[in-house]
Amino acid sequence: MTTEPRKKLHIQTWGCQMNVYDSHRMADVLRPLGYDAVDAPDDADMVILNTCHIREKATDKVFSELGRLRDHKQVREDQGKKTIIAVAGCVAQAEGDVITTRAPYVDLVFGPQSFHQLPEMILKATGSVGAARLISTDFAVDEKFDVLPNETQSQGVSAFLSIQEGCDKFCTFCVVPYTRGAEYSRPAAQIIDEAKRIADTGAVDLTLLGQNVNAYHGAGLDGEVWGLGRLCAELAKIDRLKRIRYMTSHPRDMDDELILAHRDNEKLMPFVHLPVQSGSDRILKLMNRKHTADDYKRIIERFRAMRPDIAFSSDFIVGFPGESDEDHAATLQLVRDIGYASVYSFKYSSRPGTPAANMGGLVRDDVAQVRLHELQDLVFSMGRKYNETFIGQSVPVLFDHHDAAKNQLHGRSPYNQPVHTPGPAHRVGHIGDVTIETVTGSALAGELK
Ligand code: 5AD
Ligand code: SF4
Repeated sequence: MTTEPRKKLHIQTWGCQMNVYDSHRMADVLRPLGYDAVDAPDDADMVILNTCHIREKATDKVFSELGRLRDHKQVREDQGKKTIIAVAGCVAQAEGDVITTRAPYVDLVFGPQSFHQLPEMILKATGSVGAARLISTDFAVDEKFDVLPNETQSQGVSAFLSIQEGCDKFCTFCVVPYTRGAEYSRPAAQIIDEAKRIADTGAVDLTLLGQNVNAYHGAGLDGEVWGLGRLCAELAKIDRLKRIRYMTSHPRDMDDELILAHRDNEKLMPFVHLPVQSGSDRILKLMNRKHTADDYKRIIERFRAMRPDIAFSSDFIVGFPGESDEDHAATLQLVRDIGYASVYSFKYSSRPGTPAANMGGLVRDDVAQVRLHELQDLVFSMGRKYNETFIGQSVPVLFDHHDAAKNQLHGRSPYNQPVHTPGPAHRVGHIGDVTIETVTGSALAGELK
């Protein structure tokens, strides 16, 4: 009896952690079909580009990568080998037709809510009927989580688990409600089972993912609807898990149960990514954020009242249509008022099909660039000051990898700061106290006790 040789699968992932998680799950779906994930595209039998549509450059990168893959496919074809090229993720969802027109050598196009159908799609695309190009952009999120196979590959010490998908908020600049669909929460039982399996494969630190993760309202184990705070309480009962985090949250979905959990649930880390986007009420209104800068500050205060050492990060967009110098100054002031541990900031990028794409008052690119630099300089210096407050302190660090060449351990503090220290490999997967001595860039370094 002959056995089919194993095939090589290369997945390239752009964008958010939800895409990273989805890529792992695509590999889980394809493993029983004979595909093993490899790090480089060279000689891969199947290449999946798991794409992001959030900003314009993300789409451009997809098309330039596709150009390279066309050559890869041609070279293999000359050697008599077949290559399947697939485009997945949010660009596939939003621009499936454009991809198949501009890149006819692409075999499969599928969105974030239909990759569980990959076995059927591959059969059709490689079947005797010839090269049937396939587009699947169904919103079958419920079905997807029901039929995905159990994960078999370890994600390592720090793992991700999607608990919520989609967005009903419709911020005027954002494509996510169109590419990921409506808000959906997985049932708690399904999440807890998956968390236990992930912990069995060696994960100690679990980050719960969702576009609006704190909008979580899934079926609980007791038949009631559970919020995120309740879910985290249940997950904390899994002994092997030592740390729980969640992202990304929306200010409008913050409830007392979750805020209190930061006081009561020892495993819930004192770090929250809570994007505000702008410090100007006028811009927040144009963005349809449905909260003011002051509402946001009150939420931060409620967290700090429960857990004074809690650290925050945020996303900001500069150069949104109509943004004036005063609006920008309000953003800088909000950053000073809150005192973030870290911040992600972006220049506004007009996305087709979003309401903001039709708004007047476009901000000139050079103006937006200056604003971006101002914001980033402020954030950098505040982040550095924040990190310097740790010098001399002992910090519990969960080590996630070891650099043998330098005999150095790398890990994260409870506040999500990268920390490194000289130390032995066997400490990976464990928490150790590091006395912080220096700050370089955004990382801390010190001596392990
Ligand atoms: N332009 C620039 N940044 C954007 N983001 C979302 N849409 C856009 C856009 N059109 C940013 C927001 C969001 C993060 C994931 O990406 O800050 O929180
Ligand atoms: Fe996009 Fe706003 Fe939804 Fe976040 S909350 S995914 S920024 S629409």
